[in-house]
Amino acid sequence: MATHRDLILDQFSRQALPFSASAMINDKDALKMIVDAARPGPKDTVLDVACGPGLVVCAFAPYAGRVIGIDMTPAMLDRAGRFAAEQGVRNVDWHQGDAYLLPYAAESFTIVVTRYSFHHLIDPAAALREMARVCAAKGRIVVVDAYAPEDSDQAAEFNRVERLRDPSHVRSLSLLALRDMFGRVGLPEPRTTLYELRVEVRDLLARAFPNPGDEIEIVKTFRASAADGRLGIPIHLHGDNVHVTYRAAILIACASVRFCNVPWLWLLEVRCAAMIVKLVSMSAFGTRRTCQRRLVMCAFGVKRTYLAQVAMSANDPKRTSTALLRLIELITG
Ligand SMILES: C[S@@+](CC[C@H](N)C(=O)[O-])C[C@H]1O[C@@H](n2cnc3c(N)ncnc32)[C@H](O)[C@@H]1O
Repeated sequence: MATHRDLILDQFSRQALPFSASAMINDKDALKMIVDAARPGPKDTVLDVACGPGLVVCAFAPYAGRVIGIDMTPAMLDRAGRFAAEQGVRNVDWHQGDAYLLPYAAESFTIVVTRYSFHHLIDPAAALREMARVCAAKGRIVVVDAYAPEDSDQAAEFNRVERLRDPSHVRSLSLLALRDMFGRVGLPEPRTTLYELRVEVRDLLARAFPNPGDEIEIVKTFRASAADGRLGIPIHLHGDNVHVTYRAAILIACASVRFCNVPWLWLLEVRCAAMIVKLVSMSAFGTRRTCQRRLVMCAFGVKRTYLAQVAMSANDPKRTSTALLRLIELITG
């Protein structure tokens, strides 16, 4: 039986050319909105996760220092390399790899972006955690995706037709669910910009590879939705043409403020607060040397607590245990 990875490789090896040529995917205004939201500068190192044919990478390239695109489908990376060469873009690199296991050290990038990939992932929260792990403190994490309606019946029907259209589609989340995911992985609430993507159904079908025979059901469902709204997205009929409007969101969070979602780690913060109190009382009553020692320990304590929280919220067990061990040594030492 085909695994999800097989479905991705099958669809995107075949989609590489038509996807990269699609007007909806190349929409310059939508790409500009993403770049504007992330505000890249010459000092930024950008990672585009599931970069596909490199359109987002090349949109960032003129503004950032270096941009890396990573994707699991070789045919997409091949398109990306060609596209960058055609555009004369040089400050880019392409890597083959998995969004769940990015082959980079923690905090390697200042901007980590992904577009139109989360609805193809079985566990998008795990990918977001991984994006947070490789993003530096004060960096930006940007997720762009089309979202499903909040109504669960409409969302189920929306996802059913999307899966028929592209069997590698897993599930588009609603806007609320996408926003909630940031909090679940320990990131702050994302700033959100919305936009729309308009496409005619024949263009949509020209760049996906449904199972033979499913095209009829797809067009039938879009037409029915124009009358009864079952998909929860705007659909208009003009003669034979079926115009579909997808709703998309750009969600951006700063990686510097991470809220610890592991309650007992707050105890460590309490310990640091106690150190600060001790420090203040020392400065009032203690000698200058003990006071200086306490100051250094306090600074280390606060930094270690922060690192432990970052590692924990990025679900990085190795870093978490190292940071916690050092912290315990510091507290008990
Ligand atoms: C709809 S395309 C989006 C491409 C690109 N981000 C864009 O917006 O133009 C989805 C891409 O996700 C990639 N992909 C899906 N699952 C992946 C995974 N687990 N790791 C890396 N890439 C993945 C596919 O190979 C495909 O290129």
